[in-house]
Amino acid sequence: MDYGLTRNLQIRSLLKIIYILPTVAYGQLLPLKETKYEEHVVKGVRDRSVLLPCGDAASPMVVFWSFTKLGSDIPRAVAISNGVESKVERGSGVLGNVTLDNSTLEIENLKTAAEGRFLCQAMYGEEDEIKVVYFYIELIVLVPVSKPFLQMNNSTPVEGMPVVMTCTVKEGTPPVTYSWQRYTNRDGTVSVAETVEGLLNLTSSNRTQMGWYTCTTQNEVNSQTSDRMYLDVIYGPDEPVISVEPFAVNQHGFSANEQEEVILTCLASSNPPSHYIWFYNSSQVYSGQKYVITRISRTQTGIYTCLAQNMHLNTRTQTAIILTVYYLPKGKPSCTPLPATNFQDLALRCSWQGGFPPVRLRWLKSRWGGNSTATYSNATQIHHGKDVRNGTSYICLASHPALRDETICRTTVWVPGGNPICSAVATKQNEFLMLTCDWAGGEPRVTLWWRDWKDHVLGGLKQSHNIFVMKSNATLGGKEFTCVAAHPLLTRATECRVRLEPPKLVVDRSKVSLFEGNEVELACLLEGAYLGSEVFWYNNKNQVVKTDARKYRLQQENAWLNLTLRDTEWMKDSGTYRCAAMNAVGNTSASINLLVKKYPSPPNVTISKLMYTRHRTEVELEWQTQGSGNLTGFVVQMREAKKAPKNQLASSWETVVSDIDPDTRDQKLGGLDPAIVYAFRILAVNHRTTGHPSEVKTPADPPFNAYPAVIGAAVAGMIVATVTSLLVFQYIIRNRENNPRLHDLLFRMAGGEAREHISTPEDAETAAGMEGGTSEQLGEPSKEAEETAAEVSPGEGTEVPEDSAAAQEEAPAPAPVPDPTADDPPVNVTITVTATP
Ligand SMILES: *[C@@H]1O[C@H](CO)[C@@H](O)[C@H](O)[C@H]1NC(C)=O
Ligand SMILES: *[C@@H]1O[C@H](CO)[C@@H](O)[C@H](O)[C@H]1NC(C)=O
Ligand SMILES: *[C@@H]1O[C@H](CO)[C@@H](O)[C@H](O)[C@H]1NC(C)=O
Ligand SMILES: *[C@@H]1O[C@H](CO)[C@@H](O)[C@H](O)[C@H]1NC(C)=O
Ligand SMILES: *[C@@H]1O[C@H](CO)[C@@H](O)[C@H](O)[C@H]1NC(C)=O
Ligand SMILES: *[C@@H]1O[C@H](CO)[C@@H](O)[C@H](O)[C@H]1NC(C)=O
Ligand SMILES: *[C@@H]1O[C@H](CO)[C@@H](O)[C@H](O)[C@H]1NC(C)=O
Ligand SMILES: *[C@@H]1O[C@H](CO)[C@@H](O)[C@H](O)[C@H]1NC(C)=O
Repeated sequence: MDYGLTRNLQIRSLLKIIYILPTVAYGQLLPLKETKYEEHVVKGVRDRSVLLPCGDAASPMVVFWSFTKLGSDIPRAVAISNGVESKVERGSGVLGNVTLDNSTLEIENLKTAAEGRFLCQAMYGEEDEIKVVYFYIELIVLVPVSKPFLQMNNSTPVEGMPVVMTCTVKEGTPPVTYSWQRYTNRDGTVSVAETVEGLLNLTSSNRTQMGWYTCTTQNEVNSQTSDRMYLDVIYGPDEPVISVEPFAVNQHGFSANEQEEVILTCLASSNPPSHYIWFYNSSQVYSGQKYVITRISRTQTGIYTCLAQNMHLNTRTQTAIILTVYYLPKGKPSCTPLPATNFQDLALRCSWQGGFPPVRLRWLKSRWGGNSTATYSNATQIHHGKDVRNGTSYICLASHPALRDETICRTTVWVPGGNPICSAVATKQNEFLMLTCDWAGGEPRVTLWWRDWKDHVLGGLKQSHNIFVMKSNATLGGKEFTCVAAHPLLTRATECRVRLEPPKLVVDRSKVSLFEGNEVELACLLEGAYLGSEVFWYNNKNQVVKTDARKYRLQQENAWLNLTLRDTEWMKDSGTYRCAAMNAVGNTSASINLLVKKYPSPPNVTISKLMYTRHRTEVELEWQTQGSGNLTGFVVQMREAKKAPKNQLASSWETVVSDIDPDTRDQKLGGLDPAIVYAFRILAVNHRTTGHPSEVKTPADPPFNAYPAVIGAAVAGMIVATVTSLLVFQYIIRNRENNPRLHDLLFRMAGGEAREHISTPEDAETAAGMEGGTSEQLGEPSKEAEETAAEVSPGEGTEVPEDSAAAQEEAPAPAPVPDPTADDPPVNVTITVTATP
């Protein structure tokens, strides 16, 4: 503009001064050699110092500094120097502390008023020439920026809201620039923006913009940074993220193993931080960020929801996960080999049922060598039985998320050695038959079944042990039953058989004979003791022999059942004895014919002497045997000779001596009552068989005095009808050989007249005694015998009891029944009895 004009004016006026100066300095004008003009711009900063050099020449003769204020034409003197000393104009204080050193003007504590144009006029003397320098300096006084002040219209905006930040400075030489920084712990200080004006406009605040903010202002002098200020952006919560520890996922979400500690953590970004609430299947279970389930159970499977809340904004978000709790089935996997395809194949079955998810199972050794495929809960593998060696082991492997280590089960396939064992047993009472087949051991166990003779299968298939029960039936005798055993490792089925047999009996002798009184053993052998056969003995009356019978003794030893008869009796024990056996399928018997023989009759005996000795208290007896026959001893019997009235009982025979040696022929008997008249008889004995009794005798008095008394009484005819007299008659009859005349005298005389048939009691008794002797024990007359004797009455005396007669028919060699009247023909006596009271 008019700057050029103004400058020309200034220059011109300055030139005027300069021309004047040299004159002033030296008083004389020296020729001007050179005049130099220079212009410079110098910047100074307020309150600091600035040096205004006046060219580079040293030691001028005269220096003159002037200053022209901006916007003014009038220069003012500032300082002057003549090369030796300098002087600063008093009014120069408005410019600062001004000093002039040689030609350089220094202004300390520069004031803004010093802005303007400085002119230095210097004059140098060089070789008598004067050199003048006009040095123009335009001084610009700069102001540093002051510390800026940061403000935000909203320091806690909700995310998305605009935020305006302002940065203000009081002073500072423009141009001033603004830069914005943010400090976060994470990122440190980052520069955010640079602006020309002190404004930062965040149109949509964002959480990433959170942090400590500062603004820095800068001009060419300096830069200053404001105090920091926090921008807190309120936001969230974001959609929560749930993490599960330990980490395991499946297609639905997360999984955990039962009994584990499970930690559910929820994270939803939010400012202020979220408040968390946990829900299980929509019921609240926990409040807090970290939900710890110390020992999770299968019932805790379900949906877990995390709700995050920003309490400041009252906003909430939520996320749900599905947590599946895995668990193992109970127990262990089981490995079972089974027969398959009609026992030709071996099916290996591995099973472990239950659990979640189901357990994966697979057999390690496959038929093809490699690994087999895995299946869930069950795994079956088939092998050909013939390819499997005895004792091969197989392993089944189980895997499951809840299993730390793989679990296995193992099975060893084997077949027991040997064969099945068959047996048949009958139950008690032989009602049922039990067929038993056993073959223990093996893996799988051996399968057994029963087959009958028609090849029909009986009952079912059983393992190791098969019992078939059926009703006993005689038609089963001789039938064969087979037990079949099958196993995949057996190439051929093995079997055993059992035949149902009726029992078999053997007797060692079928005929046994012995003499009475001995013991005999009948032996019976159970040769085929099948099915628990039972053996019995039947006696000759077809009764089962009981062990407790006194007569019998049963002895069992091994297969023998022996029956012993003690003290055998003639007739009674003879007969057929039967040994019988029976079992569930039949019975059998074997018989033994037992013959108990009587010993042959001993010889007859006659009394040769019977005489009193010593006052009738002792008799002396002598006898003889007649005929042949073995004998083992003699028996002497005695009774009172005095007779009761005929209808009264006669006293029975009493054995007085029984063990008389067979070689002895005499015997003395003492202890008699002299008042009683005794009758005696003697019998020979062969073992048990007693012979015919001798004739009955009463002892005689010693010779010379006995007879007259008796005879005297008889001759007197005083036959009194008393028992005594009858005895006398009897005596006479019995002793007719000795006294035939007396006999004749008494009986023949009356013969043919009185025809009353009478047997003497002795006769009857003799008959009875002899008869009894064949069956009764010595010295112990049987009751039967006694009765027989007691019942003796006219006409019946000689009759033989029926059973004896019957027995006699069967008896092989019974002793002939003695006829008491064989020697003495029956005597018919007619007696006229005059009874005297
Ligand atoms: C001023 O001049 C003297 C003598 O001529 C000289 O010694 C001195 O160094 C100078 N001072 C400056 C600052 O040049
Ligand atoms: C926040 O700002 C950053 C950078 O400006 C941007 O990348 C991000 O998407 C923003 N976030 C939101 C939630 O607006
Ligand atoms: C929770 O929910 C799951 C899936 O809907 C269900 O299987 C489970 O039985 C529920 N649990 C309870 C305790 O209700
Ligand atoms: C199979 O092996 C077992 C023992 O491992 C043995 O007892 C059995 O006798 C064997 N069977 C055969 C048929 O060899
Ligand atoms: C015995 O078996 C036959 C044929 O098997 C039958 O007819 C009979 O009724 C059976 N007897 C009994 C007692 O079961
Ligand atoms: C039964 O009799 C037989 C043949 O006489 C004999 O061998 C066996 O020892 C006897 N047994 C008993 C227990 O007496
Ligand atoms: C023995 O006596 C009886 C009768 O008393 C007689 O029948 C039998 O013939 C006699 N025997 C001998 C061998 O004399
Ligand atoms: C008497 O017994 C003997 C042997 O004891 C026998 O040999 C003999 O035949 C028997 N005599 C009579 C007559 O029975």
